[in-house]
Amino acid sequence: MIVSLKNISYRYPLEKESVIHNVSFSFEKGKVYGMLGENEAGKTSICNIIRGFIPNFFQGELTGEVFIKGKAISEYTVGELSSIVGYSFQNPFTQISGVKETVEEELAYGMENLGVSPEKMRRKVDELIELFHLQPLVNKNPYELSGGQKQRVALASMLSLEPEVVILDEPTSQLDPKSTEDIFEIVQILKEQGKTILLVEHKVDLLAQYCDEIFVMQKGEIKFSGKTEDVLTNPEILQFGGQLPQATLFCLKMQERGKQFAKLPLSVDEAVSVLRNGGLA
Ligand SMILES: Nc1ncnc2c1ncn2[C@@H]1O[C@H](COP(=O)(O)OP(=O)(O)O)[C@@H](O)[C@H]1O
Ligand SMILES: [Mg+2]
Repeated sequence: MIVSLKNISYRYPLEKESVIHNVSFSFEKGKVYGMLGENEAGKTSICNIIRGFIPNFFQGELTGEVFIKGKAISEYTVGELSSIVGYSFQNPFTQISGVKETVEEELAYGMENLGVSPEKMRRKVDELIELFHLQPLVNKNPYELSGGQKQRVALASMLSLEPEVVILDEPTSQLDPKSTEDIFEIVQILKEQGKTILLVEHKVDLLAQYCDEIFVMQKGEIKFSGKTEDVLTNPEILQFGGQLPQATLFCLKMQERGKQFAKLPLSVDEAVSVLRNGGLA
């Protein structure tokens, strides 16, 4: 297991109540995990615990254990941890460095700080420009970019450090459908590169397509977790802040009107083939 949380509870400094309650889970290397849940469910707090930001920056009271690659998270330095776990914020505006004048320099910034050789830096920057289709933007000022472009640059900068675990906290919340598809294409590429990915995202149809496993969080607890095809076809998640894919929801409505399904489908293609077979496939 590349990431393991055991009985994690957390209270922010100066707050009376805990916001995370006894959360345990493990990530297997190379898998994509989707996290769903209403606002304030504790998703970002969990991300911050996995990357060590809690308790290194936010103190408060953290109990339980976190292991990264089998080692207690407290045994890593902040620098070591940031080269294993990459995190992309919900808001791309907050993660542009602010000290670089071009996109190309911005992409090299993280590597510069780690003393990566100029040759390797050049190779990596070119690779990221290609992967993220940034060629037309290389000489622009990062501040002049649109929200979607900033998001792509921010993601590319994060990946320049080649983290094994990639946490994407609502990466598409500012993006139009086309840029959203672009981000999911990148998720697919990262998956093929063997990265372990945590994707906090409300777009369940896309989660259904790309994730191996899903968590549903509510009020600081994990209410459901398991294989995507089991969690995202379970109507009970609707009562816990989860959502179902469009095709699943459609077939659920049909089921309520008397149509029988052996198992609710997850995608439109699956729904079509199940309905062609009369529903009980
Ligand atoms: N810096 C903070 N200080 C105090 N409380 C916080 C802080 N950040 C988040 N919270 C609280 O923690 C809870 C979980 O928030 P968060 O992890 O951001 O949820 P989500 O990402 O699911 O919206 C919320 O009740 C929120 O108000
Ligand atoms: Mg959040």
